Amino acid sequence: MAKLRTVYLCQKCGHQAPKWSGQCPSCDEWNTLHEEVISKSKAPLELTTNYRQDGLKSKPINLQLIESVRRRKLITQDNEFNRVLGGGIVPGSITLIGGHPGIGKSTLLLQIALSGRGTVLYVSGEESEEQIKMRADRVGEAQGECLIYSETDTTQILKEAAKIQPDLLVIDSIQTLRSPGLDSAPGSVTQVRESTSELQRFAKESNIPIVIIGHINKDGAIAGPKILEHIVDTVLQFEGDSNYRFRILRSLKNRFGSTDEMGIYEMNTSGLRMVENPSAMLLNQYDLNLSGSTTAAAIESARPLFVETQALVSTAVYGNPQRSSTGFDTKRMNMLLAVLEKRCGMRFGTMDVFLNIAGGLKIVDPSMDLAVVAALVSSLQDIPVNKKMAFSGEVGLSGEIRGVSRMEQRVQEANRLGFTDIFIPKFNLKGLDQARFDIRVHPINVLPELFEGLFA
Ligand code: TYD
Ligand code: MG
Repeated sequence: MAKLRTVYLCQKCGHQAPKWSGQCPSCDEWNTLHEEVISKSKAPLELTTNYRQDGLKSKPINLQLIESVRRRKLITQDNEFNRVLGGGIVPGSITLIGGHPGIGKSTLLLQIALSGRGTVLYVSGEESEEQIKMRADRVGEAQGECLIYSETDTTQILKEAAKIQPDLLVIDSIQTLRSPGLDSAPGSVTQVRESTSELQRFAKESNIPIVIIGHINKDGAIAGPKILEHIVDTVLQFEGDSNYRFRILRSLKNRFGSTDEMGIYEMNTSGLRMVENPSAMLLNQYDLNLSGSTTAAAIESARPLFVETQALVSTAVYGNPQRSSTGFDTKRMNMLLAVLEKRCGMRFGTMDVFLNIAGGLKIVDPSMDLAVVAALVSSLQDIPVNKKMAFSGEVGLSGEIRGVSRMEQRVQEANRLGFTDIFIPKFNLKGLDQARFDIRVHPINVLPELFEGLFA
């Protein structure tokens, strides 16, 4: 009879404790310790299988003798996906893609699997073959050979993959995999960790790249311990609001490229479509000049993105005023409100403030500040801001406007999109060749200067 041992594992950091406690002693999170059964009977899988094509054990090798060909990237048909990965999928690499349920992870990877020229093995523990076929019919035809495998047993999957030798292995999702050597339930820390390291060993030995889908928990972290993110080479996040069409693919960690890259997609009835020229996609579609609405000339991953920023400031009816924002950091909004109170004498103290970045995307560019401030003031005073004005600049705690990167690119794009005015930090005026543009450039130093030009 196998000897059973139970331990308490923190679902967040993977800490192992012999008995339950409310708070994890390692990461200080509450209620994260869960009981898991560890069977000590079976031999560890590492000792049993060897996935190297030549069947040899690996041995030390001179760096100069390693062929660079082994690093040849697999370039998919999806330019946005290639861009985020830094040019393509590196052989033998493991990519983890996380996102909320229903955001489109399975759709994205099925599209990539279908568009691949070689052989792709798509393993799904979540959907049946028929369900995947239904989805595939919606998103397009297979270019190469796309094999669908509905299985959750990690050893079985890898045995099959070693036989097929695909150009790419897709796992949907890591939380459904089960390592036969372990008794704990699929999705538990032990299972996720064991399956991932098993996959990693397979990828490194066989040189076949693997893309793994991972679910995200309520806090936005990939379910399972952080350890998972250490094992894999690349961590991508697929985000957006499932009520809207737009999705952003961001890179959080990349051993082979920059994490500045971002891909933008649009979800429509026939799957995800790449958005090649995203700068104007989030702009206001109405012709009316409404108070509380401004346009930010933001840059995300070196690409200009103009977004409509909306604010609503109204008198608070009950006790504490409400402060809420979607797509923009609420703490940052509170900071901007404090700066407006202190430096410009504007009274937001008794007001409810709501802020919304249109399109359901979260933009992290600090240059959004200026558009947010303009929207807040426009709503407070109920005076519309001209729709043809764009804003770009970071606001400091003293109400000073701080310089931001790539100003030339922002001004050029605003000019191209037909804006008549752009407000920028005075600092950014240096080196900006205004004669090249028709747009009026308003350099500002401190916040009060913004309001002089704004409602003129
Ligand atoms: P899915 O890829 O199943 O999400 P995930 O794997 O991240 O949980 O995406 C499901 C959503 O996408 C679903 O709500 C329907 C929508 N969808 C479309 O709008 N168009 C399409 O062509 C497809 C395939 C899905
Ligand atoms: Mg899915």
